[in-house]
Amino acid sequence: MQVRNHCLNGLGISVARIDFAINGSVPMHIHPDATQLVIIVEGVVTVGFITPTNVYQKTLNAGDAFVFPIGLLHFAVNSGPGKAIVFSAFSSDNPNLHILTVLLFGNNLATRTIEKTALLERAQIMKLKAQFGGRG
Ligand SMILES: *[C@@H]1O[C@H](CO)[C@@H](O)[C@H](O)[C@H]1NC(C)=O
Repeated sequence: MQVRNHCLNGLGISVARIDFAINGSVPMHIHPDATQLVIIVEGVVTVGFITPTNVYQKTLNAGDAFVFPIGLLHFAVNSGPGKAIVFSAFSSDNPNLHILTVLLFGNNLATRTIEKTALLERAQIMKLKAQFGGRG
């Protein structure tokens, strides 16, 4: 292990602090390379993950913990009246981040292809592409 430029790399974990504004959220996303532990420090946060057969969600208060299994689609919403603070740890030093709506509507994948493969209508796709920066 080397400590350089205030970075600690190669230890097999990573850590983040998430500060939620009132009504703030973390959009549906996947970490393909890590399981994630969250611990609520302040506020009320509703978290959940989705499997092919179930939605698992829970409203957490300060001191509560929750785990998002590796590779599963998950989210967090500040569901309390004020701000919220959450600490998060990942079982990898490179968990990676794939945001669902950006994957689908934030690139130049042809609208016709999205119509056929996501089973959505053209008008819906155009609206979502405008929102998430997609072209084509
Ligand atoms: C948060 O959401 C609630 C419910 O939609 C709304 O009444 C309130 O004005 C929002 N607060 C802020 C600061 O956006």
